Amino acid sequence: MQDLDRDSVTAEALAQMADTPDPRLREIMAAATRHLHDFAREVNLQPDEWLAGIAFLTAVGQACTPFRQEFILLSDVLGLSRLVNVMHDAAGREATGTETSLLGPFFREQAPEFAAGESIAVHDTQGTEVVIFGQVTDGAGRPVADAAIDIWQTNAAGLYDLQARDATVMDMRGRFRTDAAGRYHLRTVKPVGYSIPMDGPVGRMTRLQNRHGFRPAHIHVLVAAPGYRELVTALYFADDPNIASDTVFGVSQSLVVAERLGLPDSPMPGLPAIHYDFRLSRDAAEGSGGRVGADPSRLMPAAG
Ligand code: BEZ
Ligand code: FE
Repeated sequence: MQDLDRDSVTAEALAQMADTPDPRLREIMAAATRHLHDFAREVNLQPDEWLAGIAFLTAVGQACTPFRQEFILLSDVLGLSRLVNVMHDAAGREATGTETSLLGPFFREQAPEFAAGESIAVHDTQGTEVVIFGQVTDGAGRPVADAAIDIWQTNAAGLYDLQARDATVMDMRGRFRTDAAGRYHLRTVKPVGYSIPMDGPVGRMTRLQNRHGFRPAHIHVLVAAPGYRELVTALYFADDPNIASDTVFGVSQSLVVAERLGLPDSPMPGLPAIHYDFRLSRDAAEGSGGRVGADPSRLMPAAG
């Protein structure tokens, strides 16, 4: 007979897990259990409150589809994705490497390939056209040839293709390659800031917290090349009113940009341009995954 009270139940739960063979799983689950018990004690969690929490988590799971990942959104609005990214960067990004940002819930694998200079705005072409150009280099400034640059963003109405149209259509996303000198250039339309999806449980929670729910205008970028650490980042537009209060904490000063006419090296001088060079870090081969996020279809349980 175990007469467990508000403190001894924690020790007993930890004791039952102590033989977990995988040491990292043992460490993570023991810490999660300790912190969850401490949290319940700190707020004196009541049964109806915990049931409301369980109902909330259930709704978060039920909102997930192959095209929507509500748990990533939850991690993002809690600041947890940013925290995990920052710790991952501290462990493996070279000091000269471009800072990272959130992958977010709208990344999709197998985006269409484009030639240098083409526009990713294929279906939704409204908005101010801009050119983005620069170079991908290693930490010492040496060019990285044939790097894959995936970019994705909202249209000028603030919607991703997954939200704006049938999920079979990819728009406002694409893959480019650097040339032999590591250079790239592409065209797109200037994105606008947008609200995170507010029609699900995470949006409802955000509203209860009196938060505006907006992300400043940005373009997501993922740069990959053999031998280098995958760079997941985003460029944020300086003129967005929410640049200092991103709901998901993705902005870093070094990622803030502004488009300008007449940039000296622009390959398309007639268009407003952004010059941004991406610096990759060497792959540290430390074995731990580098992304907080995924194509939502990857995170669905296998059928059957
Ligand atoms: C995004 O930038 O796509 C995003 C990131 C986190 C939450 C919602 C949207
Ligand atoms: Fe985004």
